[in-house]
Amino acid sequence: MGWCGDRQRSARQRIDHLQGEERFQLHYGDLGDPVSLHTLISKIQPNEIYNLAAQSHVKVSFDQPFYTGQVTALGSMAILEAIRLAAPEAKFYQASSSEMFGATPPPQDEQSSLQPRSPYGISKLYSHWMTKNYREAYGLFMVSGILFNHESPRRGENFVTRKIAKAVASIDRKGLSKLVLGNLHAERDWGYAPEFVVGMWKMLQADQPRDFVLATGESFTVRDFLSAAFSSVGRNWEEHVETDESLFRPTEVDFLRGNPAEAEAILKWRPHVIGTDLAQLMVEHEIDCLNSPTGFLVDGIDWEQVVESVFG
Ligand code: GDD
Repeated sequence: MGWCGDRQRSARQRIDHLQGEERFQLHYGDLGDPVSLHTLISKIQPNEIYNLAAQSHVKVSFDQPFYTGQVTALGSMAILEAIRLAAPEAKFYQASSSEMFGATPPPQDEQSSLQPRSPYGISKLYSHWMTKNYREAYGLFMVSGILFNHESPRRGENFVTRKIAKAVASIDRKGLSKLVLGNLHAERDWGYAPEFVVGMWKMLQADQPRDFVLATGESFTVRDFLSAAFSSVGRNWEEHVETDESLFRPTEVDFLRGNPAEAEAILKWRPHVIGTDLAQLMVEHEIDCLNSPTGFLVDGIDWEQVVESVFG
């Protein structure tokens, strides 16, 4: 399965390929509608619930702080309450974020202080603490994974790695002239999303519920990522990239580099793909997309291989 462009396809594009599989069923629900969540959770009685939903774009959260709070903070609260009242045996995973570390210097781990610098980070912090509170107050199996940036060809087009990968492919193959970006100095700990998903699942298989940091332990600037992406097609990024102040955030998280030592020791989880490998992998996918007559492509995640590499 796969895709090449977000715009041409439906909002469900990432799961379209699962339609028709016996074990896969879709239901309507909305983080802004606690009643629908309560009804669903009560009816389905799930074994495991992964809350990956959010208004997840940091820059957008400055433009829509109220909506971000409603969805990313209070939306999780609706799930926690539904579990407490209607399905207390369900194990719950909350997608917490390294954005919560904000101004805290690296390396960041489970003991680091949380000093978020965006409405998104603050909303995630609320859900993070609520998850912990429900675990402690009601004895429920509820955990947060504090995940550092995790990317793949399936990333949305308005996040920097995919934006860069798409632009590099278009510049190289279609003569697009330039790429306009914001802050190139921020450092991120970029990992490969499939490896992180395996880690999320592993957290819910543990004997005891607790929170973990998932990260690669390596960091790169946006400029490093740019350089690796352009180099993968034999080009120099400085000839193609401009910056625009309007793409900067009012407050930036300057430096994220996680320490995944506890996940490694306890979950035996270890990621292998790091930032600059990702640049090449993502650019290659975008070039394949441009070469595909249908615009529809297999992005080829071999899950057995991912599991083997993470726990092997
Ligand atoms: N999106 C974007 N677009 N970011 C840019 C651009 C641009 O044109 N130019 C520079 N950047 C910089 C941002 O300022 C930021 O420092 C860095 O690139 C990464 O931005 P994003 O890819 O938007 O990701 P993020 O780090 O803000 O947030 C992602 O990771 C979090 C985990 O730490 C998101 O996936 C969050 O939802 C997630 O929680």
